[in-house]
Amino acid sequence: MANLRSPRFHFWCAFQFLVLFQTKVLCYQYKVGDLDAWGVPTSANPLVYAKWSKYNAFKLGDSLLFLYPPSQDSVIQVTKQSFDSCNTTDPILYMNNGNSLFNITTNGNFYFTSGESGHCQKKQKLHINVGNVSADSPSYGPGVLPETAPSYPTVFGSIPQPPSSSTPSLSFSVIIGAIIGSAICAIINGLM
Ligand SMILES: *[C@@H]1O[C@H](CO)[C@@H](O)[C@H](O)[C@H]1NC(C)=O
Ligand SMILES: *[C@@H]1O[C@H](CO)[C@@H](O)[C@H](O)[C@H]1NC(C)=O
Ligand SMILES: *[C@@H]1O[C@H](CO)[C@@H](O)[C@H](O)[C@H]1NC(C)=O
Repeated sequence: MANLRSPRFHFWCAFQFLVLFQTKVLCYQYKVGDLDAWGVPTSANPLVYAKWSKYNAFKLGDSLLFLYPPSQDSVIQVTKQSFDSCNTTDPILYMNNGNSLFNITTNGNFYFTSGESGHCQKKQKLHINVGNVSADSPSYGPGVLPETAPSYPTVFGSIPQPPSSSTPSLSFSVIIGAIIGSAICAIINGLM
């Protein structure tokens, strides 16, 4: 137990707390396009997805919620090449439950379209860039760990304003975990 009293352990406690705080509390779940249904854009707003992605700054830990009638649509994540050519065979990820959550776990470029034939050609496609990385470095997440850790020093600075249309995604069990974790850290510090 001796090493629990080391400065390294205190740092670790604080670090864990910051990680939980940043990744779970300041994350947003974006409803794709601010629309109630992921679908072929209307003729009135054919570039809805392109505009929407341009005006939102996505970051690690955020997630994208695609809502649609499962009988009518689906979501696939594809490579840049397949995105550009609307090639929907062999996607990286295929989701068709009508309530599809894509978790952003790496920086990079993510390309989505519909798995329904013809929908991609009708501009039902979404490209997002996370972390302002160049388009030549696509990410095939989820599941791939970020190569560089996000920066923590700004965590307690100004809290970013969420886009008005987005709801914070708060995971209460994790928040409780963080509170308990920091309480344990405090108790251990108190025993010193
Ligand atoms: C579509 O993508 C698949 C898998 O990446 C590839 O095998 C196929 O040749 C592509 N088709 C076209 C028309 O490019
Ligand atoms: C994203 O996370 C949610 C909740 O943790 C999970 O239900 C969902 O399956 C995840 N999405 C993907 C594509 O793994
Ligand atoms: C994104 O990166 C480019 C260069 O790669 C830079 O010119 C641009 O200002 C960056 N944008 C933001 C919002 O940081």
